[in-house]
Amino acid sequence: MNVLVTGGAGYIGSFVSHRLIERGHHVIVYDNFSTGRKEFLHPKCKFVLGDVRDRELPARVMKDNKVDIVMHFAAKTSVTEANTQPLDYFENNTFGTMNILQNMVKSGVKKFIFSSTAAVYGDTRKDFVDEMDILSPINPYGESKASSEKMIHYVAEIHGLSSVILRYFNVAGASLDNQLGQKNPVANHLFHFLTETALGRQKNLHIYGNDYPTVDGTGVRDFIHVEDIAHAHILAAEKLMVEDHYRHVFNCGYGHGYSVLEALHMMENVAGRSIPYEIIPRRPGDPAKVLARSEKIKKELNWHPQFDDLEIICKTALDWKAKTTSS
Ligand SMILES: NC(=O)c1ccc[n+]([C@@H]2O[C@H](COP(=O)([O-])OP(=O)(O)OC[C@H]3O[C@@H](n4cnc5c(N)ncnc54)[C@H](O)[C@@H]3O)[C@@H](O)[C@H]2O)c1
Repeated sequence: MNVLVTGGAGYIGSFVSHRLIERGHHVIVYDNFSTGRKEFLHPKCKFVLGDVRDRELPARVMKDNKVDIVMHFAAKTSVTEANTQPLDYFENNTFGTMNILQNMVKSGVKKFIFSSTAAVYGDTRKDFVDEMDILSPINPYGESKASSEKMIHYVAEIHGLSSVILRYFNVAGASLDNQLGQKNPVANHLFHFLTETALGRQKNLHIYGNDYPTVDGTGVRDFIHVEDIAHAHILAAEKLMVEDHYRHVFNCGYGHGYSVLEALHMMENVAGRSIPYEIIPRRPGDPAKVLARSEKIKKELNWHPQFDDLEIICKTALDWKAKTTSS
């Protein structure tokens, strides 16, 4: 397959690009390096420096490279930043997605895989969310993805595209050989702060609330290793290559989770030192638990996670962080 990977120099996009190339596919990474890294590019990928908001360039790249399928990762990803700069998020994420779809229609590319998020479900009161649940995001980041999803739905229907929307839960970890991992300067994921604190680069970890109705009062999340997310993309792409008019939305999570304190204790075991933390008030809108129902992707794409292991997630994340700086 000739695969155009927008955002392929970022955390998840780089894993997918590497794994696609290792399976013999051709990858064209399209990225503006806003948070992506040159060193994450596979030596065998073709790289195009470009913005997903560019009205002409994506179609040219699609035509010149006879692209079969577009995987659209490029986005701004910080919920905290989105709360203060909503327009940047709608422009980059929603308009960016619209523009990529327009360029696909213009150049006749018919297959699309989209990076969505559990944030589209919003402040869910259910322990588990499934793909049929109503989308009710509660911040501009989640809304920028939910509105993109709705647009994909109509565009795919009307223009005859095949599309797979993958809603990732809490992506974490790094490659086992310590060559790829997260290095986003505005990252605000739990594992970023956990590893920084474990390495003594941050004084303590802030935990938002310990009075949730969970095992120890702290929030519970479905942490998924980035390699399992990458593999879901490979399976989705290979499915799209053999089936036309295939349209599905899949949750990408393990279907079980850990509390923030459980993750902290595992990180302490792996790091061999205690991690200081401070309990501060809950953040508005943070649900007690967000866990995926993931039977659908297992059944449809035959996805069997290989790294459903909190210790591996902690160890790879820590090894990676020890090798890198946070900026
Ligand atoms: N990391 C997670 O836990 C998580 C969870 C759910 C969904 N997602 C989604 O997965 C995707 C990838 O996230 P990530 O964690 O790898 O983030 P990242 O910041 O590491 O990667 C994003 C990439 O997109 C590029 N990019 C951003 N805006 C661009 C633009 N306008 N034009 C061209 N390139 C642009 C960046 O340079 C970067 O290489 C995003 O769509 C994100 O919303 C991530």
